[in-house]
Amino acid sequence: MEENERLMSSTEVVGDEEESIRPGSLDEYIGQDSLKENLRIYIQAALQRNESLDHVLLYGPPGLGKTTLSYILSHEMHTNIKIITGPSISKPGDLASVLSTLDAGDILFIDEIHRLPKVVEEVLYPAMEDFEMDVMVGGENGQGGRSVRLPLPPFTLVGATTRAGDLSSPLRDRFGIISKLEYYNEAQLSAIIARSSRVLGVSIDEDAIIEIAKRSRGTPRIANRLLRRIRDFAQVLNNGVISKAIVDDALVRLHVDSLGLDEVDIRYLRGIIERFHGGPVGLEALANSISEETTTLEDVYEPYLIQIGFVNRTSRGRVVTEKAYKHLGIHHPETLF
Ligand code: ADE
Repeated sequence: MEENERLMSSTEVVGDEEESIRPGSLDEYIGQDSLKENLRIYIQAALQRNESLDHVLLYGPPGLGKTTLSYILSHEMHTNIKIITGPSISKPGDLASVLSTLDAGDILFIDEIHRLPKVVEEVLYPAMEDFEMDVMVGGENGQGGRSVRLPLPPFTLVGATTRAGDLSSPLRDRFGIISKLEYYNEAQLSAIIARSSRVLGVSIDEDAIIEIAKRSRGTPRIANRLLRRIRDFAQVLNNGVISKAIVDDALVRLHVDSLGLDEVDIRYLRGIIERFHGGPVGLEALANSISEETTTLEDVYEPYLIQIGFVNRTSRGRVVTEKAYKHLGIHHPETLF
């Protein structure tokens, strides 16, 4: 993978430094205001009743803080958190062993919950609804055993997904709290970048903060990644100070354009314009023509391009808008002047 793709990708990389940048409490968490204020109420109510928090489903594009919020929930509820991902659990027994390690009130965070196999998902239904699970006892080689229902401590499942629509309705219906995370605006991203700079101990000018915020695609994970890379350029080229000029220079080197679009975004837009006359084009045909996975385009790239009005998803396929043509400096066929 090229450096730039890695930089803009949605894949979570958790190192010590990423841990230290993460806000530890709801008070430190910037943005997602209505979700945050509702969670505050649910947390206080659950604590007052001495109950576990209801199950929470967080959905939305990658990098907006679903994992961070689940850490915060465990902190605010004074409980432990266990983290697994949907694709890593292939058998019902794998999930049963994780469930059997939970203590009362613990949070079980399942990232990419839409990728849990159906047979594993079925273990979750009684676990979520009645805090019970079925396990097979006796028999040999999976034959002739019988199923026994075991009690579980009350726990909170926090599910995260980029695709709420891919969740089966029996699973979705068992979450008491369902929330969509929204892209962050420039002011919120600026506050996050200022906070991360303080945590990292890096000196940064106000106009540099704003410039990084403008180019982070509404996504804190991208803002923090750009900040770390730009810090390297500042350290070597500018005595450690992140100025607007250093940001501009670094982002040219990283192939991040004035709106934060990277090489994949540009290939996506140019692909539709140059090979499919601006669309409509089906996702599969487009993905083939630019050698990207359909899921990557759908989950990572398209949501932001749609959000900024560069792409429309119609029943006949994807269409690039006039606004995107203008940004790329390409003449739109229907524009007269
Ligand atoms: N770092 C990443 N996301 C954040 C957020 N929402 N608030 C504060 N710091 C963050």
